[in-house]
Amino acid sequence: MEPETPNAGLRAPELSAKNMAKLSNRGLANIVPDSIKAIMRAGCSNPHHPEHNPNGIISLGVAENRLLHAEISEHINSHMHVAQRMLTYGDGSVGSDVLRGAIANFINNHFQPVEKLGYTSVTVLNGVSAILDALAWCICDEGDSILIGRPFYVGFVSDFMNRAKVDLATVAFGDVDPMSLAAVANYETAMEEAVSRGKKVKALILSSPHNPLGRCYTPEVLEAYLRLCSKHGIHMISDEVYAKSVFPNKDIPNPTPFRSVLSLEYRKLIDPSLLHVQYGMSKDFCSNGLRIGAFISTDNLPLHATMRAISKFAWSSSLADSAWSSILSDESFLQGYLIKLTARLTEAYDICTSILHGMKVPYLSANSGPFLWINLSGSLQQKTIESERDLAWRMIKAGVWLATGESYRSEEPGWFRLTFAVPEMEIRLGLKRYWKNPLE
Ligand SMILES: Cc1ncc(COP(=O)(O)O)c(C=O)c1O
Repeated sequence: MEPETPNAGLRAPELSAKNMAKLSNRGLANIVPDSIKAIMRAGCSNPHHPEHNPNGIISLGVAENRLLHAEISEHINSHMHVAQRMLTYGDGSVGSDVLRGAIANFINNHFQPVEKLGYTSVTVLNGVSAILDALAWCICDEGDSILIGRPFYVGFVSDFMNRAKVDLATVAFGDVDPMSLAAVANYETAMEEAVSRGKKVKALILSSPHNPLGRCYTPEVLEAYLRLCSKHGIHMISDEVYAKSVFPNKDIPNPTPFRSVLSLEYRKLIDPSLLHVQYGMSKDFCSNGLRIGAFISTDNLPLHATMRAISKFAWSSSLADSAWSSILSDESFLQGYLIKLTARLTEAYDICTSILHGMKVPYLSANSGPFLWINLSGSLQQKTIESERDLAWRMIKAGVWLATGESYRSEEPGWFRLTFAVPEMEIRLGLKRYWKNPLE
């Protein structure tokens, strides 16, 4: 999860040749300093606090929803009871049976799956990042490739590459809308190109709803991806970690609603053993720090078994397990919580976009996720990656951090991802800092 966390990477002085000589080449390969990590590290440092550090940096660069922290922490504080069994290894390293059942039940109630899930379809690890790392390790050999469309969630790079050493075969779209049916053909072209370079393509991953674009795929498009994966016999990975963070707003009168791949007649389109979904507590339950997520696959017990075999290294704490089980099993809380989640995202989106309108900053209208993809190319000295980095540094100097398009492998310089699901004061002050300084 390196790029979305404050402690990612090492500081330059720690990289002395003496220390490096004692480390493995595969370990060292992961800490090569680069400009993306440097910007993220600086953006996460010296965090703003209204009273204790008013001049600190306002972070609008992490995909987190801070709008319902009070509700989640209150629920946990009032329900958490540390039973003695929670001090043991419990049901083992892939989540308690209770939690796996509660997740299956939640998916059955909220994702409209064509078939009801049972707990054996669910493997729990300490976050979706850990799941993607384990999944890549279990379905790919080193040097194999996974297809991914640009722009894409920055964390996928480290999830797949840092340990499993799996390459990303990136897909460019030019003028084609990455969420459209037409975009599916670009994956096939990218796949052929990767194969012609001698690569073995093993999977295609979608972030659905999309990070960073904040949009949902239509069922027709999802079906086309399933057909494509089936045609080439590759795994289809659908990361649905923002499934419930979908909200109405004035920008999109007829938004594409979220549809889980599990709600499609997938058996008619693909060998179901190739279809895998991820969900987690981080985003829809505003709990990036608790570290827990679910891998869902209905027809591939051997894959669950291979993931279980390495799950000890990504075992979620019984405290996180208990917190999520308790929330998922509390129907009346859940009902009210999900209504508030939608309403607060709408409200925060409206506040943020009205400021952006006032500043004449273009953005891609969105209906999902806690972030917006905004176009700051008007503030670039030149339309280059170097100018984009320069703008990011100028903003950090001014006291606000937005995630650079470069880190999401944007095809065009000047795009940034802005997290709007933060207290109103932070969005107002953060954007004021951007507005006052970088344009001077
Ligand atoms: C699409 C996507 N998948 C996975 C993750 C990481 O989730 P977790 O906190 O469960 O590791 C993120 C976090 O930003 C994300 O945006």
